[in-house]
Amino acid sequence: MGILYGAAYYPELWPEERWAVDAKLMADAGYNVVRIGEFAWSSMERSEGCFNWGWLDRVIDVLYEHGISTILCTPTATPPPWVVDLCPGMLPLDVNRSVRPQGGRRHYCYNNPDYRRHSARIAGALAERYGRHPAIVGWQIDNEFAQENTGRCHCPVCAEQFQNWLRARYGTLDALNAAWGTAHWSMEFNRWGQIEPPTQGVSPKCPSLMPAFKQNSGYLLDFERFSSDSIVDYQRIQVEAIRPHTASPITHNTTGIGTDEVDIYNLAKDLDCNGLDCYPDPLSEDLTWSSFSYSHARGVMRKPFRLLETTCSGGQNVWSGQATAHPSPGRIRLVNWQALAHGAESLLHFQWRPFPKGAEQLQHGVIGIGGQVGRVYHEVKEIGAEVRRLSDVLTKTTVRNEVAMLFSYDHLWSTLIKSVDTRFGYTTAAMGLYREITAQGIGVDVLPYDADLSQYRAVVLPMPTLMRPDIADKLKQYVADGGTLVTTFLMAVKDWDNGAFTERPTPGLLDDLLGAIVAETDVPDSRIPASVVIEMDALQAESSPGVWIDILEPRGAEVIGTLTGSHLNGEAVVTRNRFGKGSAFYIGTWLESDPLRRLLGLVLDDAGVTRPPFQLPDGVEFVRREGDGMEILFILNWTMKPARITLDTRYHDLLRDAVYEGELAIPASGLLALVREMG
Ligand code: GAL
Ligand code: ZN
Repeated sequence: MGILYGAAYYPELWPEERWAVDAKLMADAGYNVVRIGEFAWSSMERSEGCFNWGWLDRVIDVLYEHGISTILCTPTATPPPWVVDLCPGMLPLDVNRSVRPQGGRRHYCYNNPDYRRHSARIAGALAERYGRHPAIVGWQIDNEFAQENTGRCHCPVCAEQFQNWLRARYGTLDALNAAWGTAHWSMEFNRWGQIEPPTQGVSPKCPSLMPAFKQNSGYLLDFERFSSDSIVDYQRIQVEAIRPHTASPITHNTTGIGTDEVDIYNLAKDLDCNGLDCYPDPLSEDLTWSSFSYSHARGVMRKPFRLLETTCSGGQNVWSGQATAHPSPGRIRLVNWQALAHGAESLLHFQWRPFPKGAEQLQHGVIGIGGQVGRVYHEVKEIGAEVRRLSDVLTKTTVRNEVAMLFSYDHLWSTLIKSVDTRFGYTTAAMGLYREITAQGIGVDVLPYDADLSQYRAVVLPMPTLMRPDIADKLKQYVADGGTLVTTFLMAVKDWDNGAFTERPTPGLLDDLLGAIVAETDVPDSRIPASVVIEMDALQAESSPGVWIDILEPRGAEVIGTLTGSHLNGEAVVTRNRFGKGSAFYIGTWLESDPLRRLLGLVLDDAGVTRPPFQLPDGVEFVRREGDGMEILFILNWTMKPARITLDTRYHDLLRDAVYEGELAIPASGLLALVREMG
């Protein structure tokens, strides 16, 4: 099929005569796909059973005649008023038990049985009509689950479902009371009906009646899991309604790491490919956030993902009350190519044309509100020509990395529930480690805990607070077989129910692997100045400790980082342990960027991880793709000035169709797609 390149399109808002004009402009820009329908329920069905497919039939055909396929979306993110009329109680309740009203979008409870029935009905009707249409190249379910704080509902239906979910998980109330430790603060339950949804959504974006710190941690974690499972179940109902009618891939468009409220790994289990919406800020010179998002999206199903919405301009923050500048030329090209380099098999801009009325006015589109083309369109067209040229090689190659990072929502939620520093959470740790590794041109696959690790030379575990025996065994086996494990402070302090391990000092289940125990914990404080001295092989580095300090007592491990300069002088804080054929590193505090980067660099060199074949200056991203006997090296210059590199041999740049060797200046915001020249 090649790379799908296009935009979100809202034909229901524009006169029919305009469709062919748009289709022609899109085709000229190199588009071959649009995404239609995610907010168009009332245009499809004006009241129950009164379907109006004519416009959709015609627009799909007009576009297809111009070479543009369609990804069809189910319109369930915007239930029309008549659906709300028919589904009493479907409007969700927040922690205050107040209703999220109509007037915006996502005003539904995932567990409401009537709304589930109507959702399956419209999804099924859409699929029945268009499932075999040759223009349809995919399905998107709903729009951005949980976005705008809609991942948690506290209505009576959800309360009952939560109790059922808990009954299935624990069997008896005694087991639940034990797992949650409800004797503390007299919370022991005598009947299931006493267990109401908690007064806190743990995402910092959610409103709360009581700080999470003051509430039962097992209870909160299970509510997160239950709520996420509710979204997964809701999605499954739609997948099952669509599946019998189509052979085209089914996905969703979540915001990936942009939302804390749903376990993207569980959501993907029912899908054919993972979907993502990601809006990088094209003016930023540090694109770690989007790089990490793509590595995470690619890791969900260990294959290319679909990018359903992304930046085509500035202005994407209009919704938060802060419009942003349109980026300088070449920046959209750069942010879009970052996604393609990292494994997007589709790239759709948001949106084709700004909305004329209703919500989200004044936002940029690819063309202007008056239908005029300008700078954005021309850059989109330039990208379109390049996408077409590279489509084939992109399809034949995939990102190949030798370092994996394990990520999980259980850890994310657990660390939000009982945070040690609200400014520094699980994702901050993950992204910080990711940044310091990728800044050296070493790619990282972000994967779920159940991923096969055998192809990786090193595995990084950011703040793995929760631990289970099976995971501990897997990690030990990985290192024993020759792998390198790098982990940070707060490892294995709790079990999977979010209760502390108490049988022995942490990291109890992994003390043999790490060759150390945590003797004491502390927190850095500028009033007690201290520093960490790192000495490993030829590396000498110094850093302030940050966020947290695990004071380590070696039980066989070699100390490579020691605290100095306070009463903690001489205490171990970073260790290396040889275990079987591999090594395990424990970094017991957060290190500053430069020493952390150097330490990780040395650890990964030691693990035999391949470096880029040439030196990369700061602010230049490197992505390696392989496949079909070919290797493509993407080099992206995020800085606003030229970046100099010295190539090790002759390369062909697929984007510019030029040959380079020796010294090369990559222009400001420029990028290269290099293939080694033979002979
Ligand atoms: C996305 C959403 C779109 C639109 C866009 C920017 O999060 O899916 O429908 O709202 O943001 O406005
Ligand atoms: Zn509900």
